[in-house]
Amino acid sequence: MTPSAPVSAADIEQLSANPEVNEWVVKVAEVTQPDRVVWADGSQEEYDRIAAELVEQGVLIKLNPELRPNSYLARSDAADVARVESRTFICSELEEDAGPTNNWRAPATMREELQPLLEGSMRGRTMYVVPFAMGPLGGKITQYGVEITDSAYVVLSMALMTRSGSAALEYMQPGDEWVKALHTVGYPLVNAEGETREDVAWPCNDTKYITHFPEDREIISYGSGYGGNALLGKKCFALRIASAMARDEGWMAEHMLLIQATSPEGKKYTISGAFPSATGKTNLAMMRPKVDGWKVETLGDDIVWMRPGDDGRLYAINPEYGFFGVAPGTGWSTNPVAMETIRENTIFTNVALTDDGDVWWEGMTDEAPAHLTDWQGNGWTPESDLPAAHPNARFTVRAGQCPTISPDWEAADGVPVDIILFGGRRRTNVPLVYRSKSWEHGCFLGATLGSEQTAAAEGPVGVLRRDPFAMQPFTGYHMADYWAHWLEMGEKLGDKAPAIFQVNWFRRDADGRFLWPGFGENIRALAWATAAVEGTVDPVETPIGLLPNVADINVEGLDITDEQLAQLFDVPADGWEAELDKTEEYFESIGEKVPAALHEQLRQVRAGFAK
Ligand code: GTP
Ligand code: MN
Ligand code: MN
Repeated sequence: MTPSAPVSAADIEQLSANPEVNEWVVKVAEVTQPDRVVWADGSQEEYDRIAAELVEQGVLIKLNPELRPNSYLARSDAADVARVESRTFICSELEEDAGPTNNWRAPATMREELQPLLEGSMRGRTMYVVPFAMGPLGGKITQYGVEITDSAYVVLSMALMTRSGSAALEYMQPGDEWVKALHTVGYPLVNAEGETREDVAWPCNDTKYITHFPEDREIISYGSGYGGNALLGKKCFALRIASAMARDEGWMAEHMLLIQATSPEGKKYTISGAFPSATGKTNLAMMRPKVDGWKVETLGDDIVWMRPGDDGRLYAINPEYGFFGVAPGTGWSTNPVAMETIRENTIFTNVALTDDGDVWWEGMTDEAPAHLTDWQGNGWTPESDLPAAHPNARFTVRAGQCPTISPDWEAADGVPVDIILFGGRRRTNVPLVYRSKSWEHGCFLGATLGSEQTAAAEGPVGVLRRDPFAMQPFTGYHMADYWAHWLEMGEKLGDKAPAIFQVNWFRRDADGRFLWPGFGENIRALAWATAAVEGTVDPVETPIGLLPNVADINVEGLDITDEQLAQLFDVPADGWEAELDKTEEYFESIGEKVPAALHEQLRQVRAGFAK
């Protein structure tokens, strides 16, 4: 490999009609010094060609086309397997605007810190320019961006996860707002002295930076090839940058699933839900209801953008084009819809390879195959001590392949939301389902959302890891300002606001066993929520919210005793008083900006128990 002359500005400008995009592309190419610049057009030919090149280079393994058509396996570097929250930064002008839940650096400081790393970082490589849309092209809620990356794996993944390519570029006209997203794996093949080195299958750098400049609507990601750090349309744009845009412009960017549930009477309810990572969004999004007559259709499994429509209701889209789901634990018994979705046209990362060229992971089948190649490329048998697939192994696949995808999932301007759910992993205290007393009270439920660290649960409350609105790692500004924004949205929506419910599939009995069967049976909790919205059931007012009459929960055909049911809805005063003390400490840790309305909600819940 020989170092070549830097790409010329003239070459690049020929390729886009937007001089603002071109100017940035030229600037990045001058700094990172790639061998060549390629604009991704988003075509199937391009996808197939790049995939074939990567197979040739040993970056991807082509799976057996008879078992898993048009699908590939990627194996990452063993140290580049997950999001890196400690290396994730919000670079707002004021530290105050990043808040206590984010790492902060002044923008100028961060840019100075990144400059020497970015200089020459793409030497010897191809720099891809990937225009993309988050949301249906031309939709009212949709936003646009351009990702520059030196990873062809990222180009393929972006083609599955976003509406990427030339079509998206049409929507970025001079003067339009679009997000600059720069990604480099930080592994140049030629150094400043012109010496070359061989490429590796998964290039990355020990030094990693996932940086966000909310005021400039810009992302710079250095050193990682892993999904959450490298597919910049997802967490970086659609949550961190978008949450800041949404605050400024009066909409909402949320870590939520989006479904439509149709009742046996034929009434359709649109439901969004914020659950922390690994708490079952993908499972609920693809639920096959276990109660006859109910139907669930999928619109999204991870991110939802919502904006008030002309009729005053809150309209939601899934800004993504695909699913980036956790593979381990996904099996024919737990999530058959996901299994059907990934039959073909899928990129798998860090799963195990079967001897006949298919994929496997823990939880896919009850019994492991007798021999596998594990996620690091080593031989594996069921006697091996290490898991065959990395616990955070993922599948990347277009949402359109999901058998339960809703016909409305690409509705240009979204669908109006009826119900918002908040759900954590709670062994204690939190009932299966209950309704908030008001929007403000719903915001209190969101702000205090959390999960118990399963191993550390002692006493009535256990150790609560707070994950407010499931957005702890993803809010691109001060958490208390984000809470204030939710309160403000409620004021704007007034009586057109969705109804807010808390759910908990994870409550346990004294022996540590789940009290609720979960998964497809969760429709029973949703059925009560829809009945509460219709006013066909009367809830019971308690200090924590509006609970069901236990008799109104359909448990027909379930193996659950009256005592278990009572435990599932128990509101223990001692447990809650301890929890409310912790909530007070938690609000203090977020600081003075916590809205007075949330302190007032806390006071009211306390007062309810004091009666
Ligand atoms: P991210 O994609 O990382 O944001 O997470 P997610 O919210 O999509 O989580 P996912 O659906 O991948 O979470 C799966 C985990 O939750 C697995 O361990 C499931 O077994 C578990 N889970 C999902 N639904 C239920 C349920 O109803 N009951 C129980 N007990 N476990 C569930
Ligand atoms: Mn997620
Ligand atoms: Mn998920």
